[in-house]
Amino acid sequence: MIGSTIVRLDSVDSTNNYAAKELLTKSLKEGTVFVAECQQSGRGTGLSTWESTDGLNLTFSIVLYPKQVAISRQFSLSKAISLGVADFLAKYIGGVSIKWPNDIYVDNKKIAGILIETAISGGKFTRVLVGIGLNINQEIFISDAPNPVSLKNLTGETYELSQMLTDLCACLGNRYRSLISGDYSILEHDYGEILYLKGIWTNYREQNSVFEGKILGIEGDGRLQIETRKGEVRGFYFKEVAFL
Ligand code: BTN
Repeated sequence: MIGSTIVRLDSVDSTNNYAAKELLTKSLKEGTVFVAECQQSGRGTGLSTWESTDGLNLTFSIVLYPKQVAISRQFSLSKAISLGVADFLAKYIGGVSIKWPNDIYVDNKKIAGILIETAISGGKFTRVLVGIGLNINQEIFISDAPNPVSLKNLTGETYELSQMLTDLCACLGNRYRSLISGDYSILEHDYGEILYLKGIWTNYREQNSVFEGKILGIEGDGRLQIETRKGEVRGFYFKEVAFL
């Protein structure tokens, strides 16, 4: 049901902001999508911004009510959404991976970002806004984002955005259904299979020090599990460790 209602907008500050404002005055069906041609202040995680040239990429937000999902399972929601985007991209290109927690990469470049904003009351999710920015037809990126890439950069082809959004919503819907039915082990397995740099020794930064480590997987609470050269196995929450 993701995308059974698609609201097309010309210009907004951010589709996540727009959806949140709509929810203040309207009841919206689960799976409603707000997609914008132009975002004037597209938001990334933390304080970052999201660059997207008008009309060239997919920038949209989905309204979800995963009431059946315990809040302790929040990272499974992140897995389901990341896998939905990765499944979709894998139809067009090889080398797709998920950089923990939920950046979508092709080889060493970021093609899509996900911003999940939750509202919780009485120990349950009351609503979730899933914002997705997927670079499709943009060829030149000017922001200081470290390593952006688009599908067109990779394949040389130009894509029709409206059809892509429909197909992407179908892929997201498949994974969201697994989440809602409690098929967490499938999500865990598939996420682990395409985790960026899993099993590869590389450098990470923790506060002011750099260490060499190898990603082993994800812990139940969503922490990234890294083995160090000293043989320790450590778990890191988001922002506690940076990829170098
Ligand atoms: C990130 O990787 O930092 C997350 C980027 C999320 C960007 C999308 S674009 C649609 C939605 N609206 C926003 O303002 N941000 C998300």
